[in-house]
Amino acid sequence: MTDLGKNTLWHGRFGEPPSEALLAFTESLSFDRRLAFHDIVGSRAHVTILAKQNIVSGEERDSILAALDTVETEISEQTFEYFPTDEDIHTAIERRVTELAGTAGAKLHTGRSRNDQIATGMRLWWRDAGRELGVRIVALQEVLVSRAKDAGEVILPGYTHLQRAQPVMLAHHLLAHFWALDRDVDRLDDALARSDVSPLGAGALAGSSLPLDPHAAATALGFSRAFENSLDAVGDRDFVAEALFVLALTQVHLSRIGEEVVLWSSDEFGFIRLADAYSTGSSMLPQKKNPDIAELARAKSGRLIGNLAGFLATLKGLPLSYNRDLQEDKEPLFDAFDQCSRALVALSGLLDTATFMEERAEIAASAATLAATDIAEWLVSNGTPFREAHAIVGSVVRQAIERGVALEELVEIHPQLGPDAVAILAPGGSVARRTTAGGAGPVAVARQLLMADERLQLRRSRLSI
Ligand code: ARG
Repeated sequence: MTDLGKNTLWHGRFGEPPSEALLAFTESLSFDRRLAFHDIVGSRAHVTILAKQNIVSGEERDSILAALDTVETEISEQTFEYFPTDEDIHTAIERRVTELAGTAGAKLHTGRSRNDQIATGMRLWWRDAGRELGVRIVALQEVLVSRAKDAGEVILPGYTHLQRAQPVMLAHHLLAHFWALDRDVDRLDDALARSDVSPLGAGALAGSSLPLDPHAAATALGFSRAFENSLDAVGDRDFVAEALFVLALTQVHLSRIGEEVVLWSSDEFGFIRLADAYSTGSSMLPQKKNPDIAELARAKSGRLIGNLAGFLATLKGLPLSYNRDLQEDKEPLFDAFDQCSRALVALSGLLDTATFMEERAEIAASAATLAATDIAEWLVSNGTPFREAHAIVGSVVRQAIERGVALEELVEIHPQLGPDAVAILAPGGSVARRTTAGGAGPVAVARQLLMADERLQLRRSRLSI
């Protein structure tokens, strides 16, 4: 057999070297290099347990640990040399450790399989990435809260069916997005808690005949517990699916913010003006200023939903325990994390620097028709059944539209309405009357801002930021 063939981890069993086609198709090094440092962390814990259980000597442990330190330095300084037969990052690191530590290095993989190794590495990676994601979501929440505070008592139309419905405070609108993101952070915390299990020591699928100590490995790696079932430990990728769901739903929330930025920055709405640094221009149309960040935040949600759906399809129907199919967990997860992280940063900057066109929003929110419900509710408080009140006001609105006259005029002369009802239509009055808890009026929104601040404090202390 050629030297190339001897470089595989399984060469003992094989009479010929791997084909080019096999290497090209099955390699994962091009994308799992990203796990290098987490793989090293896993290896350090493993070799420590091997020594503690007298499977390797203290000296051997030390030379493996020294080799792992060298590998870490080489990788961070980008002097690490990868070989064409390094199928994945585990192979590359183990090969180099063996080059550096000789016979001791050849003992690193004792009692371990790449199956428990990769499951461990991915969970370690997600633990760090999940924290970073949390920090970025909270940063966007902070921007929303600070813009909500800046907005004071500015109002804009609230919409249902994208038809103007009732005036709301701009702060209330911004905070609606805050709470959606807050649920994302909750979901992230839950997902990370379920992912907090160490698979190290499960071996290829069945544990080991050597006296390994999975619980000690879990503690060494900072996991709260070790696996209960070795088949499950190497075959379980629920944590990846959950991570993809958390990321996809977060991106869906960013997409909904993005959609509103696209609408609001159009001349038709004109509620927001984006800073130049967060807008793009047109190669042909000199007057254009485009909300590309918002559009891509919207578009990437399709991609992230695809990553989730694709990975669930990969998992479906896999027999226990490890199958090579599971290698397909990495690209969708890394991609979803990268895209969502960049979208969070870009949208935070966009919202932080945008100008709200307050006057324009207030004019749009001051149309008398937006207070139609208030007149109906005023009738209710005077004893009219709501259904009847709704019909009275509805027919006055219809007539105003048909005859092309101001609503106020018809309200004034209506026998059941009159001047008191006209007063209800005054701009700004409607939102001030929204006094119920969680509603769009100033008192409830002030209370909501306090809750949001409290929530942010809790998040910051949990994430130590
Ligand atoms: N690159 C593989 C993965 O990501 C590592 C585990 C390989 N295990 C194996 N038995 N071939 O899943």
